[in-house]
Amino acid sequence: MLKYLKFYKDRDVIIKKARDQYVWDVNDTKYLDFHTGHGVAFLGHRNPHVVNSLINQLNKIMTLSTSFRAKIREEMLELLSKIVPSEFEYVTLLNSGSEAVDFALKIARKAAGRKKIIYFHNSFHGRTFGALSVTGNPRYRRGFEPLVPETLSVKYNDVDGVERVVDENTAAVILELIQGEGGINIASLDFVKVIKQRCMEVGALLIIDEVQTGFGRTGKIWAFQHYNILPDILISGKAIGGGFPVSAVFLHGFLANKLDPGDHGSTYGGNPLACAAVKASTEVLIDKNVPEQAKVKGAKLLSMLKKRLSDSRLIRDIRGLGLMIGIELRTKPQNIIRCAQDNGLLILKAGLTVARLLPPYLINDEDISWGVEVLDRCINEELSSKITN
Ligand SMILES: Cc1ncc(COP(=O)(O)O)c(C=O)c1O
Repeated sequence: MLKYLKFYKDRDVIIKKARDQYVWDVNDTKYLDFHTGHGVAFLGHRNPHVVNSLINQLNKIMTLSTSFRAKIREEMLELLSKIVPSEFEYVTLLNSGSEAVDFALKIARKAAGRKKIIYFHNSFHGRTFGALSVTGNPRYRRGFEPLVPETLSVKYNDVDGVERVVDENTAAVILELIQGEGGINIASLDFVKVIKQRCMEVGALLIIDEVQTGFGRTGKIWAFQHYNILPDILISGKAIGGGFPVSAVFLHGFLANKLDPGDHGSTYGGNPLACAAVKASTEVLIDKNVPEQAKVKGAKLLSMLKKRLSDSRLIRDIRGLGLMIGIELRTKPQNIIRCAQDNGLLILKAGLTVARLLPPYLINDEDISWGVEVLDRCINEELSSKITN
């Protein structure tokens, strides 16, 4: 019998079903889900509107090349137009965040007619060769080099570094406004302003990767709206499909005009099911005012975490924006993640020492208080075990 080749640590639990902000294991134990499949189920598991849209589409047509037009694709475009600035005249759908990043890098090289791509320490853009080449974590790169040439990294939030390396040979800068996998590191206003300015001065493109931050999670539809900047290329993934595997690359007309037929393609990209999922997810985002809910609930969760945990000797920092929150510890987070799971709360790690919370937008006050209580208990337990050892 085949074994599944896994690259994420096994959580030692068999999950049977999910609904909204909860999942259940085979023993019917209920978990509050602040993991959400690495942030995918931000609209809640099996969001009924998304599920209905997918079922409707399944009953019509499942697969169709983008060579052929489809009503559902047009409907999706109409919806997506409502949530991006009008400068983004084009969008293309792909199947994962990494794939979208690879395409964005290709667009940048071809459109700018330059090769150099700048990325940041601790960034995470994915694991395909292109995306890995701009991922600033040696752990993921080791064993796979040489990667794509002329990719250069700078320290995150290092304004001088940006001024030093972004020059007339630069095709693009790729940036996460909050580093997710890297440890919930938030870009400073100044840093982002200088990157944008510098890109404009030298004619480089700004690619903002919102695979994790996008689609309402940080309290605005897009995290770039907190910074008052406009990216040239915007990448979305995870939450945009409400659980269906899909990513999106939005770009300005002047960039699309520099691309030719055959420059890119994907068998599954833009398939009718993905379009149905994105369309319905966008409707939920708008109709339920998801970003506002993420803002209010995120602020509440963050402030309760700070109040309850900040004094602990195990805590270095608690930070985040909207429903993207990191608890930086003075130790590795594994025991705390395990303890939370054993107590019915699913969370994940970020960087080496951060416990990351990516709750869905529909968590309620009870979930928030209960989640904070579990984390408090687990952090205390970890502290006591450290003292006794
Ligand atoms: C910011 C960011 N970009 C890209 C990716 C890669 O996405 P995927 O795993 O769907 O390829 C991730 C995944 O966590 C991410 O957080």
